[in-house]
Amino acid sequence: MPSVLAEPRTALTMRGLSKTYNGNLALNSLFLQIRPGEIHALLGGNGSGKSTAIKILAGVVPADPGGELTVGDTVAGVSEWTPAKAHAAGLRFVHQQPAVFPELSIAENLAIGAGFPRGIAGRIDWPALHARTKDLLRKYQIAADPKTPLGLLRAADRSRVAIMRALQDRDDADSGVLILDEPTAALPDAEVAHLLDALRGYAAAGQTILYVSHRLDEVLSVADRVTVLRDGVKVDTVETKGLTEAALIELIVGRPLDRVFPASTVEVTDDAALVVRGLAGGPLRGVDLTLRRGEVLGIAGLLGSGRSELLRMLFGAYPRDAGTLVLDGAPYKPGNPDAAMKAGVAYVPEDRQADALLPGQSVRHNLSAGQSRDYYRGLRFHHRVERADSQRSISDFLIRVFNDEQPIETLSGGNQQKVVIARWLRRRPKVLLLDEPTQGVDVGARSEIYQLIRKATEAGTSVILVASEPEELAHSSDRVAVLRGGRITTIVSAPIDAHRLTELMNSSEGTP
Ligand SMILES: Nc1ncnc2c1ncn2[C@@H]1O[C@H](COP(=O)(O)OP(=O)(O)OP(=O)(O)O)[C@@H](O)[C@H]1O
Ligand SMILES: [Mg+2]
Repeated sequence: MPSVLAEPRTALTMRGLSKTYNGNLALNSLFLQIRPGEIHALLGGNGSGKSTAIKILAGVVPADPGGELTVGDTVAGVSEWTPAKAHAAGLRFVHQQPAVFPELSIAENLAIGAGFPRGIAGRIDWPALHARTKDLLRKYQIAADPKTPLGLLRAADRSRVAIMRALQDRDDADSGVLILDEPTAALPDAEVAHLLDALRGYAAAGQTILYVSHRLDEVLSVADRVTVLRDGVKVDTVETKGLTEAALIELIVGRPLDRVFPASTVEVTDDAALVVRGLAGGPLRGVDLTLRRGEVLGIAGLLGSGRSELLRMLFGAYPRDAGTLVLDGAPYKPGNPDAAMKAGVAYVPEDRQADALLPGQSVRHNLSAGQSRDYYRGLRFHHRVERADSQRSISDFLIRVFNDEQPIETLSGGNQQKVVIARWLRRRPKVLLLDEPTQGVDVGARSEIYQLIRKATEAGTSVILVASEPEELAHSSDRVAVLRGGRITTIVSAPIDAHRLTELMNSSEGTP
């Protein structure tokens, strides 16, 4: 029988992919084969080389010489690989920090990916573009108008637009690979489910998918096979069928690890650190809350419940229509973030790219940002102290860097997040507001971060924590307040059951 060559045996093969950054090996001779029609997850700790592999595939980061890529029938050496070739071969990408244009409309953002429809004399056919965008928005169930500037959408919807843009011309493609770098990191649970359904749908229709995630439950539910990287080296490729979460964690971390969250050892008093009464504005319609000194108070709520807005209001970064705030027994009326910080309130935002990092600056400087006064003795800046503090944070928070003078953008996504959290925790604020603090942080570092948060509460900091994973919220909070319809409907005290939280978030129970 003649051998059948019509059907490629693999959709994508990477052979000998390596990447050295300034003499440091970030990816070491990766060999990886993706089967046609499979969902393949690429896993590994922060800084293990996942995004590097994906950027090489996209042609945006040059690999070290010697590697080879096979996409369908296209075979190419890595030195000749370019973004145009990747596109022509059918690779489509949603990167960890998607390159979307916040000031342009949704329609324009889509058109930049697929080209503007042209009418007579080559003019851009706006009605056609808007109609096409409207269809796509409906299909992806994004409640927005084609003309809305992308920057006005919330983070979750911006990621969905990025995915929609990547997929827009590949509706019935049965070749090529859709490659997603942490597409669900910024999405709340309900939306994750929705997106996973969509991915399963595409795979069922023949689309091959390679994607990166730190959410292991999600990986086990959606992926056919997983490949695990550790320190730039492939550990293994395995089928997910029959694989347990514990086995997967062991592959990633290299040792067994309980997903333990530290138990509270702090005697939480009735002493109030922050009292919130009748807080209204945006989606909030009168929030009453008391944050006790030394506690971690979790906030549970669905997308759009106003969780993030609540934190922003407490930080003076979102307008308040009504309500009173009392911080440490004194009236607290933050007019802006500066005033909030002076009063001892710190905030780690969900969107670290836009809000929290100092681009172009070193890791060390990003860690000490806002703290430079502490390093002056008279007019002398004490570099040695700053350096020592920086080293301590790097080891406490398991931040993976080659050295702390690296620009912050050369860190992997999860490590950038750790820098932001470390910066605020070490300032020992009175009240710390955390919005999805472990988004993009690997399973090995998650429990450590919660331990460091606990350490801060032992030192007198009180924490309000917003997290999408009910499991994480349940394990790391002393109490959880459920936000629904713009109000706090229930407060659950420890021991907190994650399933119960999910029920409370969704039911109408307790709604006034
Ligand atoms: N432009 C760069 N310059 C120097 N080093 C870099 C650069 N980009 C990445 N690195 C380093 O390469 C290593 C791998 O980074 P990569 O972004 O691939 O990790 P990752 O597996 O995607 O991690 P995460 O889960 O945190 O996103 C890291 O140690 C990172 O600091
Ligand atoms: Mg990454």
